[in-house]
Amino acid sequence: MTKGVKKGLTAYGDAGFSLFLRKAFIKAMGYSDDALNRPFVGITDTYSDYNPCHGNVPDLIEAVKRGVMLAGAMPMVFPTISIHESFAHPTSMFLRNLMAMDTEEMARAQPMDALVIIGGCDKTLPAQVMGALSVDLPTIVIPVGPMVVGHHKGEVLGACTDCRRLWGQHRAGEMDEAEIEVVNERLAPSVGTCMVMGTASTMACMIEAMGLALPMSATIPAPHAERIRLAEMSGSVAARMAQAGGPRPSEIVTPAAIRNAAVVMQAIGGSTNGIIHLAAMANRTPHGFDLAMVDAIGRDVPVLVDLKPSGDHYMEHFHHAGGVPKLMQNLGSALDLSAMNVNGQTLGEIAAGAEDVPGQDVIRTRANPIRTEGAMAVLHGNLAPGGAVIKHSAATPALLSHTGRAVVFESVEDMTTRVDDPDLDVKPDDILVLRNAGPKGAPGMPEAGYLPIPKKLARAGVKDMVRISDARMSGTAFGTIVLHITPESAVGGPLGLVRNGDMITLDVAARSIHLHVETAELERRRAEWVPPTHLTEPSRGYLALYLRSVMQADKGCDFDFC
Ligand code: FES
Repeated sequence: MTKGVKKGLTAYGDAGFSLFLRKAFIKAMGYSDDALNRPFVGITDTYSDYNPCHGNVPDLIEAVKRGVMLAGAMPMVFPTISIHESFAHPTSMFLRNLMAMDTEEMARAQPMDALVIIGGCDKTLPAQVMGALSVDLPTIVIPVGPMVVGHHKGEVLGACTDCRRLWGQHRAGEMDEAEIEVVNERLAPSVGTCMVMGTASTMACMIEAMGLALPMSATIPAPHAERIRLAEMSGSVAARMAQAGGPRPSEIVTPAAIRNAAVVMQAIGGSTNGIIHLAAMANRTPHGFDLAMVDAIGRDVPVLVDLKPSGDHYMEHFHHAGGVPKLMQNLGSALDLSAMNVNGQTLGEIAAGAEDVPGQDVIRTRANPIRTEGAMAVLHGNLAPGGAVIKHSAATPALLSHTGRAVVFESVEDMTTRVDDPDLDVKPDDILVLRNAGPKGAPGMPEAGYLPIPKKLARAGVKDMVRISDARMSGTAFGTIVLHITPESAVGGPLGLVRNGDMITLDVAARSIHLHVETAELERRRAEWVPPTHLTEPSRGYLALYLRSVMQADKGCDFDFC
């Protein structure tokens, strides 16, 4: 089979001339024929001055190149889009599919026999894996790794669960301006991804459990030397995959691997974003995805990892307790241990070799779980015919069965303008409703589902309320928050028909979310409903492509043509 520089020639009509021309150009870089005759390993460069989570990418790339060359192949680094959560307007989710297409098409267009994906900040790894699954080149993933923890006044801090908690204290008047500024410098003390069980950590753990990354790759802190060695080892594995022509993602990401990722997502108390990304990744395979699987696993698989926001610890503690291999050992038969890792081991072999750390209390056993159920549940009802999601492991138990009066916000802007209005008619047992914040509605499905507690209630000591929306929520957030209501209001979902004062019942045990309004009244309201103007006005460029083609949350918000 054609490998390396001879692969995928540019179309000039004459194959010999195409190769002659390509070699003439690439020799300008000083490469020898010996180098160019080796199999090529493409390495994604997602370093960006806008992306502090990826601040260690240059060091990781150097180590990968060393590993590739030690194993006799040729490393070829190429840039792709980089997305940082807080530097992506309107949202990183809006750009995820663009990054997936960029990764796929550049891996397809340029000659490479294996692909090394280096990423980590929330949407990057799922985007890259979506692309890799579509191009189906032998692929290995290297997460950039989590930040180390911060400290303030004897307290351990983590981005961004504690960002929200401490900002909440500031809003409630419990922390002054000077102290919140000091905290601001201590929440993210190193490069790397958020060190709580947010979306980045969730995706790294799921992708390790899926078999696409080496054991322990999800949890090694970003600044540690161990991560550099892991990158070197990953480079060597990639070189061997390039030489052997496999395994390809289609051989690794089987139905068992997809299910294993969902099991680990529930057991780590993972981010709700993990469901959307798992759906998007699985739908890039022939095996597809079913929300019901996630809920069924959640009823059976306990939360075993004690990490914020569901628990107490941080990613570096998870790592020192044995990481994903130890978790897989404790999960045992809940996983399909015959599934394969790219390194050639089965998950069972990896789990059997997990480190035993005496006295650690981060990774629990099934006999002593953090919670007897998984982290997330899937809800249905007349308000969410296509489903909705709640992370009940991070919710207030007393609110998991609750009926309340709807207080409706029309959009993120409306919520921002009015939520702190002293005249807002809102009581602690009301249900805050946010709409027009879904995939098409906002657009880009912002992480606005964590509606702030109205200031007048926060100052009165209210810590949590039931909040429902078609938005997403950061995996680092906590509260009794129903998300991803499908179909979203902007495409005519029933969420768009809720009025102030309507009664809503959330019943997580029954997996139900119900709007107490007669069907005839809902139909009357539907006749008056109009879509948001940005969906009826002309748009251009990527926005036009996005609005035309993005699917709903239950389909992973991928494009319908991907
Ligand atoms: Fe990058 Fe949290 S901001 S992972």
